Amino acid sequence: MWKGRFQEATSSLLTQYGESISFDWRLYKQDIAGSCAHARALERKGIITHDELAQIVDGLEAIEHEITEGKFEFDIQLEDIHMNIEAELTKRIGNTGAKLHTARSRNDQVALDLRLYCRDETASITQKLRSMQSALVTCGSKFSNAVLPGYTHLQRGQPVLFAHHLLAYVEMFERDAARLEDALERIDVMPLGSGALAGSTIALDRDFIAGQLGFKAVSQNSMDAVSDRDFVAEFLFNLAMIGAHLSRLSEDIILWCSSEFGFVTLDDAHTTGSSLMPQKKNPDIAELTRGKSGRLYGNLMSMLTTLKGLPMTYNRDLQEDKQPLFDSIDTAGAALEISAEMIAGMQVNEVTAREACSDSMLFATDIADYLVKKGVPFREAHEVVGKLTAYSLEQNTAFPKIKLESYQGFSEQFDASVFDLFEIDSALAARSAIGAPSPQNVENRLVYWGKKLEDR
Ligand code: ARG
Repeated sequence: MWKGRFQEATSSLLTQYGESISFDWRLYKQDIAGSCAHARALERKGIITHDELAQIVDGLEAIEHEITEGKFEFDIQLEDIHMNIEAELTKRIGNTGAKLHTARSRNDQVALDLRLYCRDETASITQKLRSMQSALVTCGSKFSNAVLPGYTHLQRGQPVLFAHHLLAYVEMFERDAARLEDALERIDVMPLGSGALAGSTIALDRDFIAGQLGFKAVSQNSMDAVSDRDFVAEFLFNLAMIGAHLSRLSEDIILWCSSEFGFVTLDDAHTTGSSLMPQKKNPDIAELTRGKSGRLYGNLMSMLTTLKGLPMTYNRDLQEDKQPLFDSIDTAGAALEISAEMIAGMQVNEVTAREACSDSMLFATDIADYLVKKGVPFREAHEVVGKLTAYSLEQNTAFPKIKLESYQGFSEQFDASVFDLFEIDSALAARSAIGAPSPQNVENRLVYWGKKLEDR
């Protein structure tokens, strides 16, 4: 493409070092859509005829079809997807093909392709987030009576409904989807026409191109437009955050299906055995997902680091944006898909989980609240229950087994009604403020999410 200026052939090491076709071939649909829109703008400007436009569009469509079918041969001598497609087009339709790159540089072309790609992938990741949310809501509804201890510091804290725990993740994935949607605002900006860095003396109708490709806005600074990869970094952050949420869910599931917890059982299709220990049933999906969050963070770091030292405008370093982006999209997408499938096959061991809530220590806060309702200041109530807890441990006697007289030794406010506290279902029902895990609230949220996800 630059043979006019050069006398020597490119070193074969450089050809291999610099090629991006092995990974940017993925942008072929976006590249062709961008080229068709560009060609239409060239026709409007009178640079190509109506007939030439038709040849270009037909030629590009035929190439697209062949790539989709796996019949197209990419050539690493042609470095990237842009030159592979353009060279092939020119081979097929001759001189007309050579007119396509008028008023365009690969710098604005690749920026365009990437934005179109991120736009498409935003939709596909959002779809996968929705499916993940649906799997969680379905599982929560299936085991709507299940309770388990809620933890802080990985110490048993207070009993909660299992569905409330799952719905926490539904909220997290909702924020992830909202972040992706918000980021679209910055992705959805049309950079073509920025040329290499300073536009072109052939001024095309950029609004027309944007309209063809369904862009909401047109970039306003050609230098920024060819060097901006903020939207890639932002997308990578959003995918890393999804990774963080998936990793936390995975960790919960790994704990829950250990013998120590035993709250859930994963199905055979979503676990693996051990080649040595016959008894093992391992939560590999959850472990892999927890592990893959590291890759998602790494890809974000990689993009940010690539950007930090770049002088304006386009620098070849920017070619390094694609592999992290593609890898994160693949990784987060696959993790969402398989995690949803794993959740769908998960069983809750309701008896074991409820049993874990029978530890009466989980009701210590309820005892303090009981005293508050009888007029004791909370700090004092907290101290009373602290002493009561120490007594219970010392005497090796659970709260329900402690004698009323002993209770009254700690506070005169105790009467026989204290024993009503140690019943999980009524303890949960009392937690009725917005966002708290009363069965009624949780039921309402399950219905809310079920409907919302269905409407989408
Ligand atoms: N393969 C390049 C990339 O991915 C395309 C742009 C190349 N531009 C250039 N002036 N060498 O960034």
